[in-house]
Parts: sequence; structure tokens; C-alpha cells
Amino acid sequence: MNKLDTALVSSALKEAGFELTNSVKEADVVLINTCSVREHAEQRVLSHLGHLKHIKESRPDMVVGVIGCMAQRLGDKLLEHEAVDIVCGPAQIPKITDFVLQALQEKKKCLAVTKKIRETSEIQAQALEGFESVYSSPASGWENRNFGMGQAYVRAMRGCNNFCSYCIVPYVRGPEVSRPPEAIIEQIKKLAGAGVKQVTLLGQRVNAYKYKSGEKTYCLADLLEMASDVEGIGWIRFVTSYPSEEFFDEILRAMAGSPKVCNYLHLPAQSGSDKILRAMNRHYTASQYLELVGRARSIVPDIAIAGDFIVGFPGETEEDFQATVDLVTKAGYKNCFIFKYSPRPDTTADKRLQDNVPVEIKKRRNTELLAVQEKISSELSRDFLGRQVRVLVEGLSKKPHLNKAGSDGNPQLLGRTATDYIVVFNGPESLAGEFATVKITKTSPLTLFGELF
Ligand code: 5AD
Ligand code: SF4
Repeated sequence: MNKLDTALVSSALKEAGFELTNSVKEADVVLINTCSVREHAEQRVLSHLGHLKHIKESRPDMVVGVIGCMAQRLGDKLLEHEAVDIVCGPAQIPKITDFVLQALQEKKKCLAVTKKIRETSEIQAQALEGFESVYSSPASGWENRNFGMGQAYVRAMRGCNNFCSYCIVPYVRGPEVSRPPEAIIEQIKKLAGAGVKQVTLLGQRVNAYKYKSGEKTYCLADLLEMASDVEGIGWIRFVTSYPSEEFFDEILRAMAGSPKVCNYLHLPAQSGSDKILRAMNRHYTASQYLELVGRARSIVPDIAIAGDFIVGFPGETEEDFQATVDLVTKAGYKNCFIFKYSPRPDTTADKRLQDNVPVEIKKRRNTELLAVQEKISSELSRDFLGRQVRVLVEGLSKKPHLNKAGSDGNPQLLGRTATDYIVVFNGPESLAGEFATVKITKTSPLTLFGELF
């Protein structure tokens, strides 16, 4: 989500005549796009701002803006920071060029956050939609460098209505709004025209996508089918899915029915304990979750599933944690993202529950769960040995110590399978953004290694 917002803002500024630079020292304007999901992310932004304050001492004309969720959450408090000139929440991003120009010309601080983000006005919704459709297509200064070659993100939905008790997103991103299917498909066609091979449809609960148009209500399965018809698009992905019955089978059938829809599901469970799931306001039990996983595997036999978990949620006992270990063992994830509970101000968990699991225990559970998953991941990866896989090549492998040229002089490239496995192999850089076939010769829990076939 954030990468997409960064790309939209970069495109808008490029169109207004700005140039991107990789060096803060050269920049006239520095914009930091922020995430508020965990405190750690916010702390990193604050330390970055401390550094910028330093730079501003010798270059007082430099404009610094904070955009995104942290801007929305902290508003004027953030504007008080010495380094900060612009604070711009997610709903105000369509006006970012004006704010930047104003800050450069008038040297005044600018606060642009929405007071009642859950009551976003129609005008604001239209502005967001307009901004999105203009700047996310290749026609207008389109900036795609963050995505990896050959791929692009397309928002299907904004916001979230789920109010999981630990989560800040509904408070900073506002209510759920599904974008019109025509706008999404139009955008995908333009992307395909510009050589994009893979699109990822985005939403906090993307499987809840719903758009009523006349008699018909479009769901994500419809979007996937419509996107499959777009010539030039090879692969379609979607993230993140919420474990609920709504449209679940339809979406999986669309996956099974279209060779273009990647057999991959990111389906966060968050916990394996029913008591904790209830306290998290997740609306399902561990066995209902596993039932969905089982159904996904029966409809799409070679599906890869990834999960998210929070350890150390308030009240999580050793027994609750063991229930999570048990669920991870049964789910057979390709990989898991594991987070230590981080209280977010104003969420119900923060207001009503005490953050009573000591940090040492959170750390230990995090490490233990990772180890359980690593064993599963390495067994699943090992299955790939000797097999040929199709990958979309993203570009040069970013790990410089591994980035040795092969005996053929080709650099090390990184690609991804439809099931989201990372594949590292030597090949010509010109393959970036293209599909390739790789024979797997070595595996590790999260990465496959191989030779270009
Ligand atoms: N503390 C820790 N992890 C969190 N997540 C969301 N909110 C919090 C929080 N307060 C995790 C969830 C979610 C992922 C994006 O971040 O696992 O799926
Ligand atoms: Fe947050 Fe829950 Fe919405 Fe995901 S579904 S964004 S965890 S409130």
C-alpha cells in the first residue's frame, strides 16, 4: 500500500517538474511516507527526522514533509517537530504538489489531515479516485522504480472497516471504499500497454471488494476474471485476504479457473487461540480458519499460503501461544510474518487491555514461532529441488555479497514464482521484467537457487 502511495506522489511531483534524487544531501524537498502499524516504524521516522533537522541547520531552505498514516495520526504534534514543514494525511495526498510548492515559496508550515477520517466526504473520495487514476498509469510521469521491473500495484480498495482491536489502520486510512471496476481494468490495460506483466490488486481486506453497478455487484472474483482478459498481463495477484466466508470460494475458483491468477494467498491468522482471536475482534475461530485453508487447498491444490501472526497480545498465556504454534504446524504456510504486539494509541486493545506480556516473552515467542515456521518452509522449499519453475524476473539480486557474476559473466538475478517463492539465478540483466524458466539446484527456507533453463 505504501509503495503504491509513494509511487503516486513521485509521479505527481515529477509531472510538476521535480526530479527524483537518491541523495538526501542533494534534495530540495524530502517527503517521508509513513506507516503507523507498529511503534517501531514510527520510531524510525522520528530518528530520520532528527537526522534531517541536522541537515536543515546548514540548508534551512530544504522542505521536509511527512505523509501517510503517521501524519494522519499525529497531525499538529508532528508539525511541531523542528524539521517538519508539511504534515499530509492519506486522504490529502492528491493535493501534495500544491503543499510542496507552497512550502517552497512561502516558507510556512502546512498541516493537511482530515479531522474525521471515518467520515471522508464525497469530494475527498473523488479527489482520491482522480489522483489514483491519473498518476498510477504510465501516461503521466509514471514512477515505477520501487516495484521491481515488469510489475505494478493497483488499488482495489481503500481503508478498512474491520476494527481488529490492535489495529490502527481503520483510524488512519478511513472507511472501506471499493474502486469502480472500470477504473481498475482501464488502469490495468494501460499498464499492460506499457509492458507491465504482473499486477497486484491491493486492499486491506481485498477479498471483501464489492462494487455495485446497476443490477450487478462486482466482487474480487469478477475483477480477477476481467483482469485475466487483459492482453499482455501474465500474472495477477491480490493482497491481503481476510479469513472470512464472504466470496472465499468464488475467489479461489477464479484462481483455479484462470492460469493468470497466481496460486498464492496471503491469509493472516494473527493467533491460533480462540480466546485471543475473540479479544482481537477477528470474527473466526482457529478451526474455522483451518477449514478455510483446507478448502483453499482443495480448490487450488498447489496453492501457497502465507500468514501473519502477532505474538504477545494482551492476556496471551503459554497455552494460547501453543495454540498458535499448533495452528502454524497445521496450516503448512509457505512463510509467515510474525510481529510482537505493539500497542497503538486509541485502538480498543490499547484502551481496554493491558500490554501485560513482558517484552522478553514476546521476543522468545517470536523466535520460537519463526523456528517452527522455518522448518516447515525448508521442507516445502526442498520439494522444488530439480524442478523447473517459471519466474517473473524482478531485476538484479540486491544482496551484494551474493551478487557474483557466474562463469558465463552474467549477474545474479532475482525472480519470483507465481506462488511467491524468491528464486536467485545468474542471467542477463535484460531479462528484468520478463518471464523466465529456472531449474532449481539448491534451496533454503525462503529462497530457491537455480540455473536459467
Ligand atoms: N502490533 C503488532 N503487529 C500488528 N499488526 C497490525 N497491528 C499490529 C500491532 N498493533 C500486524 C498484523 C497485520 C500486519 C500488517 O501487521 O499481523 O496483519
Ligand atoms: Fe487492520 Fe484488521 Fe483491517 Fe487488517 S483487517 S487492516 S488487521 S483492522
